[in-house]
Amino acid sequence: MSMDISVAWNELKKKVSECQKCGLCKTRNNTVFGEGPEVNCKVVIVGEGPGADEDASGRPFVGKAGQLLTNILENGGNIPRNSLYITNIVKCRPPENRNPTRDEAQSCSEYLEAQLLLLHPEIVVTLGNVPTQFLLKTTQGITGLRGQWIDWRGIKMFPMFHPSYLLRNESRAVGSPKYLTWQDVKSLKEKIDTLQQGS
Ligand code: URA
Ligand code: URA
Repeated sequence: MSMDISVAWNELKKKVSECQKCGLCKTRNNTVFGEGPEVNCKVVIVGEGPGADEDASGRPFVGKAGQLLTNILENGGNIPRNSLYITNIVKCRPPENRNPTRDEAQSCSEYLEAQLLLLHPEIVVTLGNVPTQFLLKTTQGITGLRGQWIDWRGIKMFPMFHPSYLLRNESRAVGSPKYLTWQDVKSLKEKIDTLQQGS
């Protein structure tokens, strides 16, 4: 890794760890910056915000929803979790796992923007309504947007259901959210493979 980019990463991580830009800093135990490859990163996954397990550990998607995400990626898509960068719209846990407010998402977005500048991924996968609607500046729901490739600032955006939603919707019947997600992760894998052939 070149000197400049590792310095930039370290400064950004320090800034996030000390952030007091919104009220979420008052109730957090740990900030959750994100994790994954900091160079040669093709795919970034953007979730909503840390839950209790993430707030306790400082790592993204390590609780029940995170375990399901890992399972979807690795068993559904044959995509190793550690090949992707995983982060969230907000870096601090919203109390009671409520959705982040628009203001919280907006004040935190400087950090996601900086992460995306440093990573310059080819694909951004958004999980659920919160990151999808925030980044696309839309009120359209995830059910209508998931499984589609959308151009977002020249990056291929691919919305998928949030794994927490899948935990509440256990059915695997044809057309169910889980069924659709298992299809979506296969489309994601196909796209990743296409990129790698071209590079
Ligand atoms: N849900 C999210 O959106 N992000 C996490 O990091 C964990 C659960
Ligand atoms: N609402 C969400 O925020 N995410 C989903 O995946 C489904 C409904």
